[in-house]
Amino acid sequence: MVAKIKLSSVFGSEQVPAHQARGVIEERLRGAILDGRLPPGTAVRQQELATLFGVSRMPVREALRQLEAQGLLQVEMHKGAVVAPLIGEDAVDTYALRILLESEALRQSIPRLEADDIEAARDYIRQLENQTAHAEIGRLNRLFHMALYSKASNHKLLRLIEHELNEEERFLRFHLSAMGLGTLTQDDHLALLEAASQRQVETAVQVLEAHLNKGAQAIRAYLDRQAGTSA
Ligand code: NI
Repeated sequence: MVAKIKLSSVFGSEQVPAHQARGVIEERLRGAILDGRLPPGTAVRQQELATLFGVSRMPVREALRQLEAQGLLQVEMHKGAVVAPLIGEDAVDTYALRILLESEALRQSIPRLEADDIEAARDYIRQLENQTAHAEIGRLNRLFHMALYSKASNHKLLRLIEHELNEEERFLRFHLSAMGLGTLTQDDHLALLEAASQRQVETAVQVLEAHLNKGAQAIRAYLDRQAGTSA
């Protein structure tokens, strides 16, 4: 399935100042991938984007590289960059991996969290309360989790986690309502925040595990339904 989509119909024509080009183009593309305007398989061509935004190819290439590193684009032979597939059977593995990585990040980070980090996390929960746009929910969820992990000493670990969270963000945009995870997730987030602010590391790890297991179960149920193997 090759999606033929004119990028100009998605982005219109927006002239971007050269010094902001990379950041703006990355954000525009990211938003369009996350909310489904650019579906998996869509070819994303450097020259087309450069023309559309009135910039040289260099910032476009840099933006595409960032999105590739985040797992949103992949480079295919003879086609160049295309929007990466949404989700596969490995989504459940992704959650299992997240439990390992994020438990460790919590253990490292919680003892070193400062009042600012806790407040930032609390604010993301607040913003999530009123949010209905799936792409934005995914983004706020990622920022909430990252705020609690932010003081982990292993930076490579944090980069891996951010990568997995980006995967989840991509998944959430289509399936959040189908999974019915909304309010459950907020209860978990509040419990996680509470444990973190009390420096109760093991409690926080338990809450996180339960939180991510719910996600894994919801995805498994969703995939089963898609495959028609359950009623
Ligand atoms: Ni969450």
